Amino acid sequence: MKFFIDTANLSQIQEAHDLGILDGVTTNPSLMAKEGIKGEAAIMKHYETICEMVEGDVSAEVLSTDFASIVEEGKKLAAIHPNIVVKVPMIKDGVKAIKWFTENGIRTNCTLVFSAGQAILAAKAGAAYVSPFIGRIDDSNWDGIELIAQIAQIYSIQGFKTEVLAASIRTPLHIVKCAENGADVCTCPLDSILGLLKHPLTDIGLAKFLEDAKKM
Ligand code: G3P
Repeated sequence: MKFFIDTANLSQIQEAHDLGILDGVTTNPSLMAKEGIKGEAAIMKHYETICEMVEGDVSAEVLSTDFASIVEEGKKLAAIHPNIVVKVPMIKDGVKAIKWFTENGIRTNCTLVFSAGQAILAAKAGAAYVSPFIGRIDDSNWDGIELIAQIAQIYSIQGFKTEVLAASIRTPLHIVKCAENGADVCTCPLDSILGLLKHPLTDIGLAKFLEDAKKM
């Protein structure tokens, strides 16, 4: 399973990159706004900076919602860097645009996916990635991990090449469960990635080893 970081914060991206386990980055308009990135030029520049920091795919989301504008915006985003993946919402014009991008050699990440049916449509249109939002599904009293397992099974049975990119990750356990249930990629906040490191017995064991090492 690949590890992406879900942020537009450059120092967090650098920290995950320095850990040596980072395979890519996803962003969305909320995450960009959180960093105070405003205006087309600043947005484009920020994506370019991120692409220069990491070697893997960087998802950049369109803000348009009609077919022609999504295509125009996506073409501009894709031109920033070869690693840019155009993130397109799961709406009717979004599906049409994903198909257009697929036919024109531009890779896409279909976002705001909350059902297996939506994931099938994204795959049919040729999306490189599909992004089920598991934390938000859990918030609405359904099971986000079950959706990951269902989509992974459907894609495997049907031979779809679209990668399952689990998004809206909230906890380290989400990451473990995504790995267990067939996600190809997990895009996570830095805290959830670092949370994987933690175990009290590791801390206790290390303290004991260091103590005993003084007697060596
Ligand atoms: O990748 C999607 C993600 O950023 C949404 O996360 O926590 O806002 O549901 P969250």
